[in-house]
Amino acid sequence: MSLPGKILVTGGAGFVGSNLCARLLDEGAEVSVFDSLFREGTRENLAWLQTLGPVRFTQGDTRNFGEIDRLVRETRPGVIFHLAGQVAMTTSMRDPRRDFETNVLGTFNLLEAVRANCPEAVTIYASSNKVYGGLAGLELVEEAHRYSAPGKPQGVDERCPLDFQTPYGCSKGAADQYMLDYARVFGLNTIVFRHSTIYGGRQRATFDQGWVGWFCQQALAVKADPQREPFTIAGDGKQVRDLLYIDDAVECYLRAARLGAKARGEAFNIGGGIENSCSLLELFQILEEMLQVRLEPTRLPWRTSDQKFFVADGAKAGAHFGWKPTTARREGIAKTLEWARKVS
Ligand SMILES: NC(=O)c1ccc[n+]([C@@H]2O[C@H](COP(=O)([O-])OP(=O)(O)OC[C@H]3O[C@@H](n4cnc5c(N)ncnc54)[C@H](O)[C@@H]3O)[C@@H](O)[C@H]2O)c1
Repeated sequence: MSLPGKILVTGGAGFVGSNLCARLLDEGAEVSVFDSLFREGTRENLAWLQTLGPVRFTQGDTRNFGEIDRLVRETRPGVIFHLAGQVAMTTSMRDPRRDFETNVLGTFNLLEAVRANCPEAVTIYASSNKVYGGLAGLELVEEAHRYSAPGKPQGVDERCPLDFQTPYGCSKGAADQYMLDYARVFGLNTIVFRHSTIYGGRQRATFDQGWVGWFCQQALAVKADPQREPFTIAGDGKQVRDLLYIDDAVECYLRAARLGAKARGEAFNIGGGIENSCSLLELFQILEEMLQVRLEPTRLPWRTSDQKFFVADGAKAGAHFGWKPTTARREGIAKTLEWARKVS
C-alpha cells in the first residue's frame, strides 16, 4: 500500500533518513529532504540518494522556524518523518544549548509548521530510550559478559516511567512529549518511536554515537595494525542494548506511516528485541571471530546516566503495525562490518 501524498524527511541525509529515503524512492514516493548537512558524511549520503531517484532537497535548519515553515507550506506533505536532531548524549554535555535548540525548538518549529499548514499529516518522530533515564530501579544480574534483567524477560515497555536525565535525555524527552501533546490538544497525527541502537550502512559512527559501527571500525583498525594503541570503552562493557538493523527500522517507519491516524498520539519502543540484545563484550567476541583478531580495549569511567540494560519490548509495535525485526544480530553486524570497510 502506498503512502498518502508527498513525503517530507527532516534529517533525510543522515543515517536513518537516507536509508528511509532510499526505500521511499524505491516505492515511487515523492520525497523531500530537509537537512542542514551538519553531520559529517551527509553530503555523500545525499549524493548517493540523488543517484537513486528524484529527491527535492532543501538545505535548512529546523532551529529556524521560517525555513521549515516555508517548506511545509510549499509541499504540504501527507507524511513527515522527523529525524533531524542532535543525536549524542556526550555532545549534549559539551553544548547543551545547541542540543536544546536542535531537539526541542527544532521539533516545536516543525509541529507549529504542521499545525498551520497540514494538520492532517502523519508525523513520526525518532525519540530515544533515554527518556526512561538510567533505569536505576531495574533489577539486574551481572553475568560474565553482560547484564540481564530477569524481571523484564521481553524488555522494557512503554509503561516505564519517564525520567529525563542529561541534556540529551531532556531535549529528546521534551520533543517526545510535545509530539504526543500536539496529538492530544491539537489533534495532530503524531507518533513517537523510542529507539536505542539502530545500526547498519550509511551510518557515520563516531566515538560519541553509533557504537556498533564505531567498534566495527576499531576492530578493522586493530586487524590492520595489531600493535596500535588500544581503543577505549566507557564502563565495564557488559551494558546491553537490543540492536535494530536499519532495514527493520525503515520497515517499521513505513508501516506506522501507513497506519497513520490509527496510531496517533502513541509512543512505541522500537528495537531489535531480546533475541538481538548484545553487550559490548559480546560484540567484541563476534568481531574477534569474524575478523580473527584479539580486541583488548582500555576502560574509561561510565558515561553519565548510561543504562546498564535497555531492551525494547516490541509487543505494542507488533500489535499495532504487525511488525517485528527480521535481521539477526550476527547478520546485521556482518553487513555493518562491510560498510565500515568502505568508510574506514
Ligand atoms: N541511530 C540511532 O541509533 C538512534 C537511536 C535513538 C534515536 N535516534 C534518533 O533518530 C534520528 C536520526 O538519527 P541518525 O542516527 O540518522 O542520526 P544522523 O546524525 O545520521 O542524522 C541526523 C540528521 O539531522 C541533520 N540535522 C542535525 N541538526 C539539524 C538541524 N538543526 N536542522 C536540520 N537538520 C539537522 C544532520 O545533518 C543529519 O543528517 C535522530 O533524531 C536521533 O536522535 C537514533
